[in-house]
Amino acid sequence: MNSKTLEGQITYEQIVINKNLKYFKSSSLQNQKTFAAELQTSLNSTPKYISPKFFYDENGSNLFDEICSLPEYYPYDSEIEILKNIESGIKPYVDSDIRLVELGSGSSIKTRLLLNALYNIQKNVEYFPIDISDILSHSVQELCNIYNDLKITGLIDTYENGLNFIEHYDDKPNLISFLGSSFGNFNHDEGMKFLKTIHDMMKHSDFLLIGFDLKKDAVILHNAYNDSKGITAKFNLNVLNRINRELEADFDLTKFAHYAFYNELSSRIEMHLKSLQSQKIKIPGANITISLAKDELIHTENSYKFSISELESKFTKSGFEINEIWCDSNRYFALILAQKI
Ligand code: AVI
Repeated sequence: MNSKTLEGQITYEQIVINKNLKYFKSSSLQNQKTFAAELQTSLNSTPKYISPKFFYDENGSNLFDEICSLPEYYPYDSEIEILKNIESGIKPYVDSDIRLVELGSGSSIKTRLLLNALYNIQKNVEYFPIDISDILSHSVQELCNIYNDLKITGLIDTYENGLNFIEHYDDKPNLISFLGSSFGNFNHDEGMKFLKTIHDMMKHSDFLLIGFDLKKDAVILHNAYNDSKGITAKFNLNVLNRINRELEADFDLTKFAHYAFYNELSSRIEMHLKSLQSQKIKIPGANITISLAKDELIHTENSYKFSISELESKFTKSGFEINEIWCDSNRYFALILAQKI
């Protein structure tokens, strides 16, 4: 074990698991606002909200995997369809020695499609997942077993610090991927800030590959977030279980309902938890007690949907040149490959 300090003064502890797998852990993580502190603010706001990043405890991550296998949740299959052809798509652009950097340690199936494409284009492949918590997940271990010579360097930190780390790491070009439709969970300003941050930290030889859910028939959108098996409802309600477990709260899940709809004006799916009666909830771990009126909503997620022209304008405004826009056969989903101008 040793450590590395970046210009930005963040110290990273290096942990070597074996000759192909190591990771760097940031010392700045302690400064992150805690779950309790965030809830103190968000559940005392009007309207109340809970950040969607808190969905993903172990149970929430498993439920999200289940959502991805539902017939109604088209984004997953649509993106896989595009990724199956990614090799011929990226071949004209990528160098023979590009490193895959993934924001979020992702689903191993999508990562494998990208790694397979790179293995067919170049001899050695390096993979750099950046995630705040999940780096040594099951999926990374699985990748080590599948690709004997894949060099994996995980980075446990925020995306922003992770990209800063990569910027100063070496001169090798990077293919920075942000798969899934997580970009849609940002509002407009957050999305632009995210693109600009990536842009400013990229080298001219780097590429950005990023997924977007496209605007489509409102019924298809509605059904994707109101599936017939009720898995999305469980996923939404699970955040209350997490607060009960981690902060000793007394949410009674039978007194809440999953509520998701397409807000056409804002081009976004909104997910909420609806209080089925007036009630008081104690959250001792966050030092708060909250009151909810009957039918009051706790906003848990926005999932924005985009048109191709909106995306083109976002990329141009944040200083990118779009190399390619790939869509699935239904035109439900888009993957954009872009470079810094
Ligand atoms: C992770 N994120 C892109 C998913 C989405 O579609 O916004 C999360 C999700 N929420 C409900 N179903 C899936």
